[in-house]
Amino acid sequence: MKGHIFNLLEQFIIEQAGDEAFEDILDACHFITKDPFIRSGTYPDEDLIELVNKTCERLNLSPKDAHFGFGKWIFPHLTKIAPPQVTTFQHPKELFLQLDHIHRVELKKIWPDAEPPRFKCIDTGPDTVTMTYDSRREMIDLVEGVIESVAINYNTPIKFEKKVHKGPEHNVYEYFLTFG
Ligand code: HEM
Repeated sequence: MKGHIFNLLEQFIIEQAGDEAFEDILDACHFITKDPFIRSGTYPDEDLIELVNKTCERLNLSPKDAHFGFGKWIFPHLTKIAPPQVTTFQHPKELFLQLDHIHRVELKKIWPDAEPPRFKCIDTGPDTVTMTYDSRREMIDLVEGVIESVAINYNTPIKFEKKVHKGPEHNVYEYFLTFG
């Protein structure tokens, strides 16, 4: 995962728990990576999970709540990564229809070594989109937190139903989103 996401997670922990707790969490972590995480670097997913897990232990949170909470916080920080014409829209539906382009094209322009998730989004009606999330990381609590973050930022409630498709290597998740 890109260092930018690690740096946002560090910022989130400091904002929520303070510098002292963050230092305790870092001390408790056993990372594969030996150097500090920098924005343009790429680091093992295991290191991100280690940081989340040690945060959960220190703050007495479940990993599910931690991933969801991070997602719910993150959207305004993500929009700063790419140009406004690909991240800023009138309605959240337009954002979801561009999600795969943002991850697979715009992010790759900035960080060619990124390994972003795949989002197939289909326009199914005036207030509905079907979004398929496909990633070997299967970070569904993060996905659901970011959906909530988008809803807050666009001041538009987003409800969803979810269907899991079992795959040979990982599961693929279909989200039936309804806006408003
Ligand atoms: C402005 C819009 C967005 C930007 C710029 C953005 C950017 C990013 C970046 C930089 C990564 C790390 C990729 C890597 O290290 O290979 C990432 C991963 C991820 N993004 Fe987004 N993102 C955006 C919107 C969203 C939204 C709306 C969702 C949820 C529906 C989402 C869900 C995820 C998830 C779950 C990952 C974790 C990696 C994985 O599952 O494989 N993102 N995104």
